[in-house]
Amino acid sequence: MISWDEFHDDPTNLDADSNKQQTRSQPAQAARSIAAASAAAPRISEQAAHSYADAVAAAKTMTAMDMAAAAEAPVAEPAADESGLGSDAKAEANNQRVMAQAQAQLENLDVTAGMAELDEWTDRVSVDDKRMINCRADLNQLVPFKYDWAWQKYLDGCANHWMPQEINMNADIALWKNPNGLTADERLIVKRNLGFFSTADSLVANNLVLAIYRLITNPECRQYILRQAFEEAIHTHAYQYCIESLGMDEGEIFNMYHEIPSVAKKASWGLKYTQELSDPNFTTGTPETDKALLKNLIAFYCCLEGIFFYCGFTQILSMGRRNKMTGTSEQFQYILRDESMHLNFGIDMINQIKIENPHLWDDAMKREATQMILQATQLEIEYARDTMPRGVLGMNAVMMEEYLQFIANRRLVQIGLPEQFKGVKNPFPWMSEIMDLRKEKNFFETRVIEYQTGGALSWD
Ligand SMILES: [Fe+2]
Ligand SMILES: [Fe+2]
Repeated sequence: MISWDEFHDDPTNLDADSNKQQTRSQPAQAARSIAAASAAAPRISEQAAHSYADAVAAAKTMTAMDMAAAAEAPVAEPAADESGLGSDAKAEANNQRVMAQAQAQLENLDVTAGMAELDEWTDRVSVDDKRMINCRADLNQLVPFKYDWAWQKYLDGCANHWMPQEINMNADIALWKNPNGLTADERLIVKRNLGFFSTADSLVANNLVLAIYRLITNPECRQYILRQAFEEAIHTHAYQYCIESLGMDEGEIFNMYHEIPSVAKKASWGLKYTQELSDPNFTTGTPETDKALLKNLIAFYCCLEGIFFYCGFTQILSMGRRNKMTGTSEQFQYILRDESMHLNFGIDMINQIKIENPHLWDDAMKREATQMILQATQLEIEYARDTMPRGVLGMNAVMMEEYLQFIANRRLVQIGLPEQFKGVKNPFPWMSEIMDLRKEKNFFETRVIEYQTGGALSWD
């Protein structure tokens, strides 16, 4: 490990040119003198010391008490007696004063303040200490792994990295601008779905970062949640990229979650589950609050990402299969691939919390979870009716209703609840094939290599 002095003597370690020049020309002893000089600023004023050299001389007489006081002092203001200096000299004097104060503060750094917070985590973590919620073990130690499924999903998510700008939107732009390119019903589908999704992914990201992240108490899951949060940012980027490419009215599209009832109902249904948990005073640790967290996970993973996305995904992907809006459809394909991993991760989290806290999964909770999934299904059926007043793209609202009931049955079974819609079948089996995207495997393998190359650092 290099020392502080060696670090500062190495000209490659500072970026700003002015800092480079200053640091290259000053040996370590001078740097320490600058620190002292800044700390002595009050004394400099008293003595009407007009030069940096005077300040250095004054600093040499400082006591340890002076240094400690200087370290706690607010950043020094320019001294009044610098008024005679030119602007360059004033700037230089100010730079030196600020840098010196930073160094003086470091020399007097009290490390116990930061470490006190970690006092309860002095032991090395063992696998048995780890828990999904209400864990007391050190959350900064990723290993030893306990939740391998979460770590594996983090790796899989990284291996599937993609960016919206890589998808060619030219055919979509031409089709959208051609007055005869799409029917009115097809245009309605494109606009409504960009309207719903452009804000829905922000709601999911906010729920991750502002509500659940701090309450999920193991680092493997947190690692995946951070990856998921970035993917949600990419999805919002993708929708914005489509909206911008097609030259849509951004105000109209981004405000649909306020202005269009079928979109607004879905957004507000999800938001109410974020509200309680995003209160900074909310903590888990009682059956009631632990259940509130579990309900949030069911709302966002099973309902919002697991049901609310499915009518829109099916409609846009159906358009792509008919060779219409193929760029937008490709964006949705990659998003759907990410979303199915988010959903699976959420279901794994819910089931693991149930295993570790069986008392939470009582009859009341089962009834409530079932109700939530049924409500979400009904809202999505209403959305299907609103976006498909007539048959379009080889589908209609009745077929979509059966598909959503089929999806709802799957969500119920995935978290250990009985199916609610007897005998329903999947009218869109091609959706499952697209979700797996097996044909595209090589695409992602190539992309991974390109990202590694593109991300390599050059020191030239
Ligand atoms: Fe998303
Ligand atoms: Fe998601």
